[in-house]
Amino acid sequence: MKIAFVGCGYVFDIYMRARWGHPELQILGVFDIDAARLATVAKHYGLDTYPSYEALLADPEVQIVVNLTSIASHHGVIKRALEAGKHVYSEKPVTMEFERTRELFALAEARGVVLTGAPCNLYSDSIVTLWKAVGDGAVGKPVLIYAELDDNPAHLMHLEQVRSPTGAPFPYVEELSSGCTVEHAGYHLVWMCAVFGPALSVTAFSDTLVAHKTDTPLSPPDTPDLSVACLTFAGGVSARMTCSWVAPRDHSLRVIGEGGEIRVDNIFHDQSRVTLERFSRVSLAARKPYTLRSQPSLGRLFGVGGRRLPLVRRWKSHAVEAERGVGRSLKHKAVSWLRRREVYAQDKFLGIAEMARALREGRGQPMPSDFMIHINELALLIQNAGPAGTSVKPATTFAPLQRPDTVGGGPSAVDYARRPLFERLLQGPVKAAHG
Ligand SMILES: NC(=O)c1ccc[n+]([C@@H]2O[C@H](COP(=O)([O-])OP(=O)(O)OC[C@H]3O[C@@H](n4cnc5c(N)ncnc54)[C@H](O)[C@@H]3O)[C@@H](O)[C@H]2O)c1
Repeated sequence: MKIAFVGCGYVFDIYMRARWGHPELQILGVFDIDAARLATVAKHYGLDTYPSYEALLADPEVQIVVNLTSIASHHGVIKRALEAGKHVYSEKPVTMEFERTRELFALAEARGVVLTGAPCNLYSDSIVTLWKAVGDGAVGKPVLIYAELDDNPAHLMHLEQVRSPTGAPFPYVEELSSGCTVEHAGYHLVWMCAVFGPALSVTAFSDTLVAHKTDTPLSPPDTPDLSVACLTFAGGVSARMTCSWVAPRDHSLRVIGEGGEIRVDNIFHDQSRVTLERFSRVSLAARKPYTLRSQPSLGRLFGVGGRRLPLVRRWKSHAVEAERGVGRSLKHKAVSWLRRREVYAQDKFLGIAEMARALREGRGQPMPSDFMIHINELALLIQNAGPAGTSVKPATTFAPLQRPDTVGGGPSAVDYARRPLFERLLQGPVKAAHG
């Protein structure tokens, strides 16, 4: 499938990290209104450029336009691509105004083309592992989700100094002005909605806690840096999701069922550690003593935290496991390896690959328009909740999604629920002690 990129800023380099794993996606060319930036990426990655967006859209070979422009440009850029009869894959948020988002999806439908986009962590090994474990009944009936997206105190992170490998400055003004919820909530909302169905209610609160995050003026100056949302899903599950640029980094999530808990360590890592704990009286009681709580490795002997699940592998799992052609120095390669191992790893090309595969096979999109609209609505509702809070029923819904396919299927997650020795030995005494 033949694609072209519009917008070649900071996130473009993150896309390029996994490009090597998607040879079926041929990049015909790129365009950016920043001529210097366009020249830099064209030279670095050996890409052809278009002299204008008109020229990109006029290229009859281009099937998918990938929109990585600044959020303020999304509406115009997407609209023009749809009007030119192109399929569009867009970075999130589609737009910052729900009615404009709806308008774009209506336009795509009217033109008979696809509009879909990021985030694509729904297709990651970690989330598919989680989804499968829930489906296997590993935690019994799921009832509760705790989802965290604290991304460190922005005012202490020296965001002005952050650069991508090819020198694009991190767009901290846009990020802080558009807000942590609009930027990040989607990473949790996509999997929660995909696995547990549309949100039936949203009770949310958002506020600005740290007024001064940078000396550069922000517009608006007071976009919330905290949101807390409680959602109920059609599948009968309730969730509490927190997004902030105030608290130290925590990207974890927990799905708690009547019989256990699944934990994913980092929603920003496509191959994050996924653990399954099947609750027992021993593992629950072991959370009470201070020593076991403060020494996680001791707690594990008693079953606290459970066991690591083998990650389900998918058709593109390899793409995120290596990086080619972004930074070429030894230092970059070492940093890249360390980052992928320890901090985060995302294959942002995967969303385009899944979109293109569905188009090739003539089937519906894995993240169809009703789903995308719902996610956009939820993120905006939560961000705009304000300090007084809001409690609403979303106006949109979507038809159930299919779990992404896996390679080889794999054993049931329940098979990994063998309990550690201590936990098994103590089962009798703990039961006796509790009468
Ligand atoms: N920065 C991140 O870590 C990150 C991560 C995930 C997603 N995103 C999303 O990706 C998108 C881009 O983010 P970014 O960090 O690369 O921003 P950026 O500001 O670094 O890059 C945006 C690029 O788009 C170009 N551009 C703007 N309007 C244009 C137009 N009308 N036509 C052509 N080019 C245009 C700019 O010149 C710039 O080079 C945003 O939607 C953002 O939410 C960013």
